[in-house]
Amino acid sequence: MQVWKEYIDQNKDRFLEELFTLLRIPSISADSAYKPDVARCAEAVKQSLIDAGVDKAEVCPTAGHPIVYAEKIISPSAPTVLVYGHYDVQPADPLELWHSGPFEPVVKDGKIYARGACDDKGQMFMHVKAFEVLSRTNTLACNVKFMIEGEEEVGSSNLGTFLEQNKELLKADIVLVSDTSMISMEHPSLETGLRGLAYMEVEVVGPNRDLHSGVYGGAVANPINILCNMIASLHDENNHITIPGFYSNVAEMSTSDREALNAAPFDLEAYKQDLGVKDVLGEKGYTTLERTGIRPTLDVNGIWGGYTGEGAKTVLPSKANAKISMRLVPHQSSQEIAGLFQKHFESIAPDSVSVKVTAHHGGEPVVTPTDSVAYKAAAKAIETAFGKSPIPTRGGGSIPIIALFEKVLGLKTVLMGFGLDNDNIHSPNEKYDVANYYKGIETIPYFHRYFAEMSN
Ligand code: BES
Ligand code: MN
Ligand code: MN
Repeated sequence: MQVWKEYIDQNKDRFLEELFTLLRIPSISADSAYKPDVARCAEAVKQSLIDAGVDKAEVCPTAGHPIVYAEKIISPSAPTVLVYGHYDVQPADPLELWHSGPFEPVVKDGKIYARGACDDKGQMFMHVKAFEVLSRTNTLACNVKFMIEGEEEVGSSNLGTFLEQNKELLKADIVLVSDTSMISMEHPSLETGLRGLAYMEVEVVGPNRDLHSGVYGGAVANPINILCNMIASLHDENNHITIPGFYSNVAEMSTSDREALNAAPFDLEAYKQDLGVKDVLGEKGYTTLERTGIRPTLDVNGIWGGYTGEGAKTVLPSKANAKISMRLVPHQSSQEIAGLFQKHFESIAPDSVSVKVTAHHGGEPVVTPTDSVAYKAAAKAIETAFGKSPIPTRGGGSIPIIALFEKVLGLKTVLMGFGLDNDNIHSPNEKYDVANYYKGIETIPYFHRYFAEMSN
């Protein structure tokens, strides 16, 4: 639409500058030292929604970080789009690996570098700006509700309660989310599923105190040695996970669906080169796209114990710890898998140690429909903006609240992400291409328009 194009062209620089203002706020949800910054960021998001033309916007306190809610109701008979996103970000460490400050956004080679540039401030803010385009050009076709949370990166535990308590307020026809990736600008895509998550922490305890590794070494279990053996035994030689019952509920994909998944453009050589690895590694019998999209996995995220300071200290440590995540696929349940893990991990511990297993936050896997009005509207919006229809893909990451939208609110979700897999989310030098930011702002208004047209 010409009026949209003109509005975006005239306001391009401001749209970028306003995103930078949000990116300068270190809204790290995991670290309580940043609580005031998280609160300040919520206020800034609320103000941006007011400036963009909503009727009502509020910062809703929770037991954790606040949720920003806003709405613009144009007509009781128009369909309602609930936009979900998150304004919190991951911690920025290790700081020394950043080329510029994580909270001092800069544009270099057409890319915005900052923590949250892609995940999710940049992608969430596209919806605020797209809404501004629609409202200021008087072309809103749908009612719009915004729910932007501050705890996605720490498991969204208070958002579930918010959904339960605000079912009426959150009534809508579809949830629209930009917090995932697409293949590339040349190959736009829509994710049609996300993996679930079970996140565990384990502790292996041996002797009641650290010991001299010469005086006692060889006679007493070393908890680090034991932990390594236990972790190594969680995969077999084919990289299958050995926890009994782990695969019992895994939905096997049909051959034709697997063929369709593997038909997506994917360059394994470029993938390896980008990551600096000579070869990939994963479950035998599955391609890289299948390994991240439709298969469950188990990974150690952190491991510690003993002496890690300068030089050498001969010590047989008293304990060892690890954080272990499992990505889940339909129809695995995070609670059930956490239980299976705990039972198995305790059962493989030798008598020479004791183990403690605790579960952190989890989330359920989701699959989104491709035959719905909302998916078709998203596909048509992308086709209009990119000149190509999107390829359906499966995402490897997790957004735990999506399963609850369906369970609590009865709402399906469209995952219209504009990030790229190599945007370094959760890593140093997170980036978001300026072109993707503007392309998102250009595409989203078409979704609203087509969704309204096709809903009638
Ligand atoms: N936006 C990501 C999830 C994502 C990224 C999905 C790329 C698909 C493609 C989200 O912010 C995230 O990082 N989620 C966490 C889970 C959460 C409970 C910490 C994840 O996937 O590790
Ligand atoms: Mn995210
Ligand atoms: Mn994230």
